[in-house]
Amino acid sequence: MKKKAQGALAAVTGTDHGPDFDVEGHYDTWATAYDDDLLNEYGYIAPRIAADAFEPLVQDKTQPVIDLACGTGLVGRELNRRGYTCIDGLDLSKGMLTKAEGLGIYRELMQEDLTRRTSIQDGVYPSLICVGSFASGHLGPEHLREIIRVVRPNAPIVIYMNAEHFDVKDFPGTLNKLEDEGLWHGLSVEDSNYMNQIDRRGKLIVARSGRAT
Ligand SMILES: C[S@@+](CC[C@H](N)C(=O)[O-])C[C@H]1O[C@@H](n2cnc3c(N)ncnc32)[C@H](O)[C@@H]1O
Repeated sequence: MKKKAQGALAAVTGTDHGPDFDVEGHYDTWATAYDDDLLNEYGYIAPRIAADAFEPLVQDKTQPVIDLACGTGLVGRELNRRGYTCIDGLDLSKGMLTKAEGLGIYRELMQEDLTRRTSIQDGVYPSLICVGSFASGHLGPEHLREIIRVVRPNAPIVIYMNAEHFDVKDFPGTLNKLEDEGLWHGLSVEDSNYMNQIDRRGKLIVARSGRAT
């Protein structure tokens, strides 16, 4: 029988937190134990699933990649292991960013809030990856536009997110609307389980920015 999520993980999945959930404070507190909890206790593989989808789309491994909601840098580690050499990260939590900085694999790390317009200029990044931040109490479908804004036309966008939140918040409606508006194209959505030790369904969302040419 699989385990059940407990402690800090339980608080950020499903609806185990209230409307006043302090996401920044939660991750600041969790930062030191986060990698050990997720990797060793639960068998977290979302960064690997996302990187598997990202790698065939981004063959020039010297181009900048923006890792949005990079946390402690598990996605950066996965990309670095595959040879990507120019990774920038952004996250809300200083505690998580401090851990990411300690890896020494990010070119630049930014402490910013994706629920607002960030300081990143329009269309600067040639590719984008974002894992684990579209979840209950974190980001909703209304924040996808800000994410797409920072990439160049036709840039690969790879998002991995919790499936419960995807269903509850009607992400499909927004994903299709963004495609209709020409903000991205070639959209695909795939299901998988993203923790080996517990049942945790996820959605892999892959698209390219702008209209198909
Ligand atoms: C589950 S962790 C995922 C971290 C990393 N991508 C990974 O896969 O391990 C979610 C991350 O989203 C960040 N986050 C939540 N809300 C955010 C926001 N509004 N702006 C930027 N980052 C946010 C948290 O600080 C946390 O580091």
